[in-house]
Amino acid sequence: MAQVAIEARGVSKWFGEGETRTVAVHDVSFEAKFGEILYVVGPSGSGKTTLLSLVSGILRPNEGTVAIEGVDIWKLADNALADFRLNRIGFVFQDFHLFPRLTTAENVALPLFLKKRDWDQSIAEARKYLEIVGLKNRADLPPVKLSGGEQQRVAIARAIISSPDILIMDEPTASLDGDTGRNIVSFVRNNILNDKRCIVVVTHDARISEFADRTLLMEDGKLKGIEKGNTHA
Ligand SMILES: Nc1ncnc2c1ncn2[C@@H]1O[C@H](COP(=O)(O)OP(=O)(O)O)[C@@H](O)[C@H]1O
Ligand SMILES: [Mg+2]
Repeated sequence: MAQVAIEARGVSKWFGEGETRTVAVHDVSFEAKFGEILYVVGPSGSGKTTLLSLVSGILRPNEGTVAIEGVDIWKLADNALADFRLNRIGFVFQDFHLFPRLTTAENVALPLFLKKRDWDQSIAEARKYLEIVGLKNRADLPPVKLSGGEQQRVAIARAIISSPDILIMDEPTASLDGDTGRNIVSFVRNNILNDKRCIVVVTHDARISEFADRTLLMEDGKLKGIEKGNTHA
């Protein structure tokens, strides 16, 4: 049986107090395993982004626990949590979050700089990862010279350069056209996913549904069900 990568137990998150209180995520429990690609689907506002933030150490839940490879992440001290995230979790944002004044290679090398690795070594490593995502010849260009699909692959290279076991992607294809979006997820499935890695993808993109092993259905902050495969993406 595959090892559990992420275990969320009864996590809830609300914003505001009293009349203005919004419950973004209510009492959600699920497991994600190594070797699987898990989809999270649901209408806009159903709590998908909040759920990702809770399980990746970005946003502290009001209730519940999140264990990553058995480590209860919200019990870690701030520094330890920051280190844990840097080493174990890669996060790909919808709109890439690339730095326009850095070259593509410098963008990819950023996590290594944060780990205080030598500059030249980090850039060399970044070039390797750009090769993995098929962008070797783009390394010295600024991101603005790249297409949307290429920028998304740069964001993926940056997310995996510190070899995280867990890759979280929030609507990675939302700003891409159909074929490009499909190619990105197919690429992730075939080249990035392995039996030591777990990938969680938030999407409402039906075009890429065939790549899911299991799908979490979110509605109004609640987990409505977990389906095998991809029937609801
Ligand atoms: N920082 C925040 N402050 C207040 N409300 C928020 C915040 N983040 C999310 N929400 C609310 O929580 C709900 C879920 O949001 P979100 O997780 O972004 O949904 P989704 O990603 O599915 O579109 C929404 O009603 C949203 O307005
Ligand atoms: Mg969202």
